[in-house]
Amino acid sequence: MKNLEVKPLNKAFDIVIDNIASDKSISHRSAMFSLLSDRPSTVRNFLRGEDTMDSLSIASKLGAKIEDDGVTIKITPPKTLTEPDDILDCGNAGTGMRLYAGLLASFEGSFVLTGDKYLRSRPMKRVTDPLRAIGAKIDGREDGNKAPLHIRGGNLKSFKYESPIDSAQVKSALILAALKADDKCYYKEELLSRDHTERMLSGMGVDISTNDEGYIEITPITKPLDPLNITVPADPSSGFFFAVAAAIVPNSKVTLKNITLNPTRVEAYKILQKMGADVQFKQTENIYEPIGDIVVSHKELNGVTVENNIAWLIDELPALSIAMSLANGKSVVKNAKELRVKESDRISSVVNNLSLCGIEFTEYEDGYEIEGNTTLKKATINSHGDHRIAMSFAIAGLLNGMQIEDVECIDTSFPNFKELLDSLSV
Ligand code: S3P
Repeated sequence: MKNLEVKPLNKAFDIVIDNIASDKSISHRSAMFSLLSDRPSTVRNFLRGEDTMDSLSIASKLGAKIEDDGVTIKITPPKTLTEPDDILDCGNAGTGMRLYAGLLASFEGSFVLTGDKYLRSRPMKRVTDPLRAIGAKIDGREDGNKAPLHIRGGNLKSFKYESPIDSAQVKSALILAALKADDKCYYKEELLSRDHTERMLSGMGVDISTNDEGYIEITPITKPLDPLNITVPADPSSGFFFAVAAAIVPNSKVTLKNITLNPTRVEAYKILQKMGADVQFKQTENIYEPIGDIVVSHKELNGVTVENNIAWLIDELPALSIAMSLANGKSVVKNAKELRVKESDRISSVVNNLSLCGIEFTEYEDGYEIEGNTTLKKATINSHGDHRIAMSFAIAGLLNGMQIEDVECIDTSFPNFKELLDSLSV
């Protein structure tokens, strides 16, 4: 088990970062969606984290030819997906498993999706139930709720589905299944979750749009899609750790370059702005998504209540809770019970680790309250194998130091995190 010792920074920084890890969601989708074309896709800046490399290696096991020169990955899809002679390992990635479940549900063959011990304990019924309802043959432990999942792909019926959860993983699984259904399909969620799937598939030629009743309408495809030609932007969820660093270290500033400014992904920066930090967005281009720079500078922070748009904040709440601990007054997170089924139970891993740092809190089933105005004391943090917990507390350590246990998980999404963290002290 690898540990990370973070030393107090004891100085301000003003840094431009142009190598924040590439977007994880877009990288997963690039690997998977390229299988739906009949020509090679070109993907630059693919995230070389464990989660997304697992998705790429699954694409290869399904018959894709992968050519990688270290910068650009060319993915040539097979004529028809190969039935793999082994299990398909999604590692730690819920996105990998849930989206591949939707994609494979309509392909002839037998496929087994598995993952690490954390992923094998996460709920899969949210995708297996609606997929089974349209004819997919899926089995797994606890009646299809826990991986390994066995999928035997085949014909799928059309559907009109109103999702009980705002989840891009569920939505994307169902959209991928809809592409091969026997008629037009309709999908609705209460709050729009991240919409990379809709944007990318639309760019590849899928007829997909949202109707007046708020349903996403998906027309099944009758021919292979256009290939992807994409440069993956930087990941705003990874960039957010350094945004929090700039917000909490007095007189500091960070410029995060080439980040996706997709509105479903930058809500946490807006919360930081609402708390008092100086945050500026500068759009520079638009390729599938608006892309640009985000500049964050330190200012005194005030407590905040976060109870809306939770799906837009789900990956950033652990890092935001570090800023909340240092803000003036109390902060509240509500309606966030989804946090309990992420890479770890993020409500309990956030509050218990904060408490080790001397922060007072109240825990609720769907969130927490944090008493601000505190200094974060140095403590020994258990990451629970969750990359976002490990990185959030590493950032907290910039003030008074921190010892973080079990930090291998950082490699799932942000392999150069430590290098960038170290660059703050140069
Ligand atoms: C993701 C969706 C989110 C997010 C995850 C990536 C995606 O999960 O937490 O890190 O790429 O679709 P949910 O949509 O299940 O909340």
